[in-house]
Amino acid sequence: MDRKCRWHHGHSQDPRNDTLNAYLRAHIEGAAQHALNTIMAEVLEVTTAGNPSKGAEGTSEETSKNATLLDSISDSVVAKHYNERQEVGLQERTKSRIFFLRNFNNWIKSICIADVLQRLRTRDPRAELTVLDLCCGKGGDLLKWKKGQISRLVCSDIAEMSLQQCEERYKELGNRSHNPHEKVTFRAEFYKADLSKEVLSEMYEDPSIQFHLTSCQFSFHYSFESQAQAETMLRNACERLRPGGYFIGTVPNGCELVRRLRASEGTWFGNDFYSVNFHSKDKFPLFGCQYDFHLDGVVDCPEFLLYFPLLEEMAKRHQMELVYCKTFHEFFQEHSGDPENSQLLSRMKSLEQYPPDRGNTPSSSTDGDYSHAEEHFQRLKEQSDRHIKLGTLSKSEWEATSLYVVFAFRKETSQESATAMTSTT
Ligand SMILES: C[S@@+](CC[C@H](N)C(=O)[O-])C[C@H]1O[C@@H](n2cnc3c(N)ncnc32)[C@H](O)[C@@H]1O
Repeated sequence: MDRKCRWHHGHSQDPRNDTLNAYLRAHIEGAAQHALNTIMAEVLEVTTAGNPSKGAEGTSEETSKNATLLDSISDSVVAKHYNERQEVGLQERTKSRIFFLRNFNNWIKSICIADVLQRLRTRDPRAELTVLDLCCGKGGDLLKWKKGQISRLVCSDIAEMSLQQCEERYKELGNRSHNPHEKVTFRAEFYKADLSKEVLSEMYEDPSIQFHLTSCQFSFHYSFESQAQAETMLRNACERLRPGGYFIGTVPNGCELVRRLRASEGTWFGNDFYSVNFHSKDKFPLFGCQYDFHLDGVVDCPEFLLYFPLLEEMAKRHQMELVYCKTFHEFFQEHSGDPENSQLLSRMKSLEQYPPDRGNTPSSSTDGDYSHAEEHFQRLKEQSDRHIKLGTLSKSEWEATSLYVVFAFRKETSQESATAMTSTT
C-alpha cells in the first residue's frame, strides 16, 4: 500500500505551537462566543437551563471539562465501526431499504463535486486538479473523481480496512476499462490517519503538495468531539488549499437536530428509517455534544453536534470564506431542474418510482408515506391520459435526508486577504 502511517506526536512540545495554540484557543473561544451570542441564540433559542448567569452553552471552562470527560471516546469506536462494516455488493445494496435514500445522498455529493470542479475550471481551464478526499471511507466518491477528470487524489481515513478497500477500488477502476478514453486519469495516494488528531501535511510524500479542492463528505462532524479535534480536522482540510481553492462537504444540520429534539417528547426522535438519541434535552456544548445516530443499520456510532455558524467562524481563521451552506432540500430544488442533473438523478436511481411497478414493494410501509406523491400523481392524471410515473422519496426517507446540509468554502486569494485587512483597519 502506497501510504504512510506516521503518528503525529509532540505537537505541543514545540514552544511555538503552545503560543499558536493559545492564540487559536483565544480566537476560537472569541469566535464561539460571537457565534453563540449572535446566531445560535436566535436559531436554537438556547436556554440557560436553570443558571441565568451562564452563557447558553455554559462557560468555556465547562465546555473544556466536557471535552475532557468525553475525550476520545469516539476515535477508536468510529474506526472500529467503519472497519467492521461489511462491504456489500451492488446486488445487496439494491435490496437495502435505504437504497434510494443512499442514492439520493450520493446524487447530492455528485452535483456538489461537479459544481465545484466546474468553478475551478472556469477560473483556470488548464488546471491539473489535485484533490484531498478527507475521511474518504471505502472510496464512495472515486467514480466522481474519475468523471471529474482530476489529475491527482489524496485519500485519508482513520479506518484502515476501509482505506484498503478504497485503494483496491481505485486499482480496479484503472483495470476495468479497455477503452483508453475511459482509463483513470488520476494517480492516488492513501494515508491512514486520525484526521482530528494527526496533521496530514507532515505525512505527505510530496511535502510541497497543494490542493485545489478538499472534500469531506458525511464526516466532519465526528471531529466536533472536542475543540482541539475540530481545529485539527479543519487545519487538515484547509492548510494545503491553494488560494481560490475550495473546501466542500456534507454534515448533519446541528440546528435542525436540536429543533427536532425540542419538538420531541423525550431525548429521542426519528422514524422507521433513522433515529437520533441525545443524552440531554437542554445542554448543547459547542464541542463534545454527543448523540447517537442510527440509519437503517448503516451508521450506528456516536456523532457530535456541529453548529455550522461556529464552523464558519473557525474557518475564517484559515482565510476560508463561506460560499454556501444549503439544506439538501434547498440544494435539490436549486439543481434538480437542470436537465443534466435530472438525468443523473434517474441514472443514479436516486428517486423511487411512484406508483411502483407491479411486484415491486415500496421502500416504506408506513401509512401515508407516499400521500404527497399520490396527490401529485392524481393531479397529473387529471391533466393527461398518458402513462404517468413519478420519482419520489417516501416522507420518512425525506425526513432523514433533510437533516443534512451541503457546504462550500473558498480560500481567499492573497489579494482578497489584503483587501479584507485594509477594510478592517
Ligand atoms: C459516513 S462515512 C463517509 C465516507 C465517505 N466520505 C463517503 O461519503 O462515502 C464517515 C467516514 O469518516 C471516517 N472518520 C470518522 N472520524 C474520522 C477521523 N477522526 N479521522 C479520519 N477519518 C474519520 C470514518 O472512518 C468513515 O470512513
